[in-house]
Amino acid sequence: MSDEVKTICCIGAGYVGGPTMAVIADKCRYLKVIVVDLNKDKIDSWNNEDLTKLPVYEPGLKDLIKRCRGKNLFFSTKIQQSIAESDMVFISVNTPTKQTGLGAGEASDLKYIESSARSIAEFATGNTIVVEKSTIPVKTAEVIKTILISSQKGLEKNSTKSFTVLSSPEFLAEGTAIDDLMNPSRVLIGGDSKTSINALVNIYKNWVSEEKIIKTNIWSSELSKLTANAFLAQRVSSINSISALCEKTGADIREVAKAVGMDYRIGRHFLKSGPGFGGSCFKKDILNLVYICKLYGLKEVANYWEEVLKINRWQQNRLTTIIVKKLFGTVTSKKIGILGFAFKANTNDTRESPAIKICSNLLIDGARLSIYDPKVKFDEICNNLKDLNNANGNSFKVEDFISMASSYEELANNSDAILILTEWDEFKKIEWSKIAKLMRKPSWIFDCRDIIDINDFKESDLNIWKLGFGSNVDNLK
Ligand code: NAD
Ligand code: UGA
Repeated sequence: MSDEVKTICCIGAGYVGGPTMAVIADKCRYLKVIVVDLNKDKIDSWNNEDLTKLPVYEPGLKDLIKRCRGKNLFFSTKIQQSIAESDMVFISVNTPTKQTGLGAGEASDLKYIESSARSIAEFATGNTIVVEKSTIPVKTAEVIKTILISSQKGLEKNSTKSFTVLSSPEFLAEGTAIDDLMNPSRVLIGGDSKTSINALVNIYKNWVSEEKIIKTNIWSSELSKLTANAFLAQRVSSINSISALCEKTGADIREVAKAVGMDYRIGRHFLKSGPGFGGSCFKKDILNLVYICKLYGLKEVANYWEEVLKINRWQQNRLTTIIVKKLFGTVTSKKIGILGFAFKANTNDTRESPAIKICSNLLIDGARLSIYDPKVKFDEICNNLKDLNNANGNSFKVEDFISMASSYEELANNSDAILILTEWDEFKKIEWSKIAKLMRKPSWIFDCRDIIDINDFKESDLNIWKLGFGSNVDNLK
């Protein structure tokens, strides 16, 4: 098989497919890169002249699209044609948790992977390298290979159609996706065909040094991705569990995190306490890991990882309880401002955002929410909060209890409390003394992202509660 790749196609134009292919196109101008998706609206948005309308918000993405789109980067719904003309096909489709059937609630739903493999089996021509970019259960390459091989059974003896499968999971984080793709900590490639591995290495080599390119067997590669996400999520749950202990004991979570993280064996990254991890992947990937462990009879291992998820959900419920308690035990008909709905800063993604659980809890308790997020739209928020029942078990229309604030003043006006859930930089510049004047007294700020410097508040009449801040900021008042 020749390792000369001229055209690549990526199935799935989402948060991974779009940015990843934009970077590849930018770094490998000799390649033709086609990103395909079933979703026509999404492809239309990727092709929109107005770059503020791209379906994914990532710092730096607009510039890349401007540089490459229409030159060597194309977004298309022509899946068949794009696969047929490609030497290498990346699968970057979603792998959500199964909602029904065998493994429901834990296993990854591989229906999009399977349909992608079937499209490749049908439409590919010549020697095609298939690259798993999606995060998938270990052993998924076997499923893909089986589909690809069975498609070859009815072919003429002289057919030149053949496939190899590689695993190359993506480690980008949202909000820093372009930077992560441009300067990856590592590129992982698993597979058994040296020629195919080299073909993919040759692409990455254009901007990633070879020491950072790890070659492994395919199962190690698949499992490394699930393990990396599980370890990252575990750190967040670990620090969040300690944040609760700080609040009880007078310790300060930031000081603890700093002292612990300066041990080079532990490291200082990923030790920020907050409202719990969100995002489309940590929860689903751990659920998947738990499912696989159970499948192999490793009950203790499954239980161990499940605790990471339990602490995460506990942290969100714990925060809601604190808020309600501080507001005299009831939030009914009270206006609460929510600063940030996305699961982290610099993204418009709300999947599994901690804001969903916390806002749902508050709405169920009767609160009215005024929400401000620089990138998330009202419809998106309503979609995430639908299907709620009030304390009496009656369903209610969430739209009647939520409004979007277009300014901090609007959010604060007559509110009892403001809850900081996303660490957007712009929140650090809020003039709280102005905001305080607009709020109903006594007014509370709940800082779950360490945005506020309490020294700025010593003179104000705001009550401040900071997550993991054991010297009880509210007691300063
Ligand atoms: P996404 O939902 O944003 O995008 C997936 C896209 O695939 C959708 O637009 C969907 O329409 C399309 N699709 C599904 N089946 C298709 C088919 N048969 N043909 C054509 N298009 C199809 O998902 P995402 O966030 O980009 O994640 C994709 C994968 O990458 C997941 O497995 C995820 O776990 C993994 N991952 C995600 C991130 C992240 O930050 N979001 C990071 C690393 C890895
Ligand atoms: C995460 C991983 O960091 C990526 O390596 C991986 O590729 C990706 O999942 C994936 O597979 O989808 P992402 O979810 O985009 O990336 O963002 P993170 O920066 O990891 O944050 C995840 C969540 O943890 C956020 O809600 C964030 O606020 C929270 N977090 C993170 C903390 O609460 N504290 C921290 O110290 C770090």
